[in-house]
Amino acid sequence: MITSRAVKPRPLSVLCHRTCPSITSTSRVNGSAPTAKPQQSRGLATVQDGPAQPPKRTHFGGLKDQDRIFQNLYGHHGADLKSAMKYGDWYKTKEIILKGHDWLISEIKASGLRGRGGAGFPSGMKWSFMNFKDWDKDTKPRYLVVNADEGEPGTCKDREIMRKDPHKLIEGCLVAGRAMNTSAAYIYIRGEFYHEATVLQRAIQEAYKAGFIGKNACGSGYDFDVYIHRGMGAYVCGEETSLIESLEGKPGKPRLKPPFPASVGLFGCPSTVANVETIAVAPTIVRRGANWFNSFGRERNAGTKLFCISGHVNNPCTVEEEMSIPLKELIEKHAGGVRGGWDNLKAVIPGGSSTPILPKTSCDNQLMDFDALKDSQSGLGTAAVIVMDKSADVVRAISRLASFYKHESCGQCTPCREGSKWTEQIMKRFEAGQARAREIDMLQELTKQVEGHTICALGEAFAWPLQGLVRHFRPELEQRVKGYAEAHGGEARAGGWAHDAQKKGMLISPGQ
Ligand SMILES: Cc1cc2nc3c(=O)[nH]c(=O)nc-3n(C[C@H](O)[C@H](O)[C@H](O)COP(=O)(O)O)c2cc1C
Ligand code: SF4
Repeated sequence: MITSRAVKPRPLSVLCHRTCPSITSTSRVNGSAPTAKPQQSRGLATVQDGPAQPPKRTHFGGLKDQDRIFQNLYGHHGADLKSAMKYGDWYKTKEIILKGHDWLISEIKASGLRGRGGAGFPSGMKWSFMNFKDWDKDTKPRYLVVNADEGEPGTCKDREIMRKDPHKLIEGCLVAGRAMNTSAAYIYIRGEFYHEATVLQRAIQEAYKAGFIGKNACGSGYDFDVYIHRGMGAYVCGEETSLIESLEGKPGKPRLKPPFPASVGLFGCPSTVANVETIAVAPTIVRRGANWFNSFGRERNAGTKLFCISGHVNNPCTVEEEMSIPLKELIEKHAGGVRGGWDNLKAVIPGGSSTPILPKTSCDNQLMDFDALKDSQSGLGTAAVIVMDKSADVVRAISRLASFYKHESCGQCTPCREGSKWTEQIMKRFEAGQARAREIDMLQELTKQVEGHTICALGEAFAWPLQGLVRHFRPELEQRVKGYAEAHGGEARAGGWAHDAQKKGMLISPGQ
């Protein structure tokens, strides 16, 4: 039996679309022959100083259909193997994996792919941590763990991949698994995704039957298994170390890092946790070439991306677009615009519930990528765009998120466990106006005490939406307090008590 360790990397010539354009999925999808690059005509007076540089792009978006990786996002064809192969999946996969881990990792690095699970860490670099010095002398098994928990409110992209394009994910497991020299992939799928798990399981069985995975996957001599594990519905189980704990059959509570999963991961073995979208785009990247993927989006923010647009838009949807597309264009072109028009926009949460809210003024010229959103003191996160028009009550919306995070805190760290409870209570009082204006700064201060002082990033996830609210919607919070004072004859006392609570004998001081 030839195991993954016995596979020798091959020369890099076969598959790169630059050397072999006929294998690109564009030409396969369209069924057309690749067109030859026209020769540049030069007059006698022309001086060629060097290779012509393409003009620097200043506008992003308008992704063409042939450049979409997820050809079946809207279910126009089946999720079965035959349909998937018609649209380019499993094409020359054997040749791809025979190129070996060094080529695969360098191609992913060159493509500029950054993790699609929220943090945006460069994937090529992350995957390369698995191939540490003397990794092949280590006798432990090695795992790829696919994060299909998708718990972030507003996010609905991974489920679309799994129910419509499951073979992209399975092929991705094999390609990424080969890059990291793993012997198996565990797909940890959110428990509520019953239908998606069924479709995915069917696709896994098809791939086994066709010999694409399992022993001697695709005839490459490399053995690779894919398993599904259904989760039980806790948001924190999406955090990578918590996910590993849950997969091992323990309560889903995050581990302290280091050690990182690449050295001590699933069952104590080297492992890497990666998001569904990150893994599913890998085969197309290596098939069409790193330069193709890197040609989309701004520098350091390469590629195409699935955006999930929900809230007060005319046509909520999940769409694949070019990274760095302007937010306004994304909403108007694909989601039918904001209800009542762009001027009716109040705010947008740009990357799932953990990313800070942005007011309309920031949204007007906002580009949708990691760096541009960081510059606006928010984040791309999972690219789940939650749109709120002027009818939205932002205080109530963020208060609801505070309740969500309090509910989902696993309770291991005091700042997260206690802080999320306090902020929930404070926000509930602000919702009703039973708070004091000075508590706005207290709220801000409290979130700053949590940020960076917890085991996992759930601490930040609950702190950031509140910070965004205070940063951009302080007048709304102040208005709540004023409104309550006007309606009840005075500002509430600390703790939300009515201003005349003591007079009415409802508050008894110690010693009284
Ligand atoms: C509280 C919490 C929940 C998370 N939930 C998810 C999730 O549902 N799906 C996901 O892919 N990543 C989630 N992440 C991020 C993962 O920890 C991890 O960074 C990600 O799966 C890495 O994949 P990538 O490198 O492909 O981005 C979560 C992180 C935290 C802190
Ligand atoms: S930050 Fe919160 S969710 Fe994460 S480990 Fe600590 S208590 Fe648990």
